Amino acid sequence: MNRKRGLRILFLDGPNLNVLGDREPSMYGRETLADIRGAVTAAARSEGATVAFFQSNHEGEIVERLQSAKRRFDGVVINPAAYTHTSVAIRDALLYSGLPAIEVHLTNPARREEFRKVSLVEDVVVGRICGVGGYGYTLALLALLRHLRREGARGQA
Ligand code: DQA
Repeated sequence: MNRKRGLRILFLDGPNLNVLGDREPSMYGRETLADIRGAVTAAARSEGATVAFFQSNHEGEIVERLQSAKRRFDGVVINPAAYTHTSVAIRDALLYSGLPAIEVHLTNPARREEFRKVSLVEDVVVGRICGVGGYGYTLALLALLRHLRREGARGQA
């Protein structure tokens, strides 16, 4: 971690999140991914943190981003979307990155279909934020920064 530059957080979004706002609005709302990123960027600025964003509909691209995030970021906020429930590859890449992560979901998967109740990353993340819409991304940023700052302070003690 470089204290001068501030903490660097990578936001990763999985399939169909590029069409947020237009996608099942009764489920996911009218907020777009750009709206969410705008709110996250503003929160990061006031926290003195740096954020980067990547969305893909392709599992392998998310895997590659996680691989290259190792040493380049301090933490990850990830909404793997449908891959949450299926992707061993994304779980393995998250473990490879060695980065602390927060899993975020716009909806609360526990209140939805059975197949959404399984998350292949839930036991390898610091925590999960679900069911509060796009606001969950800002909450995830704040939670991850707090976690990293506490870990950093512990490392220095
Ligand atoms: C989601 C929940 C997933 O089950 C779904 O496949 C998504 C979005 C959410 O943010 O609520 O695409 O991750």
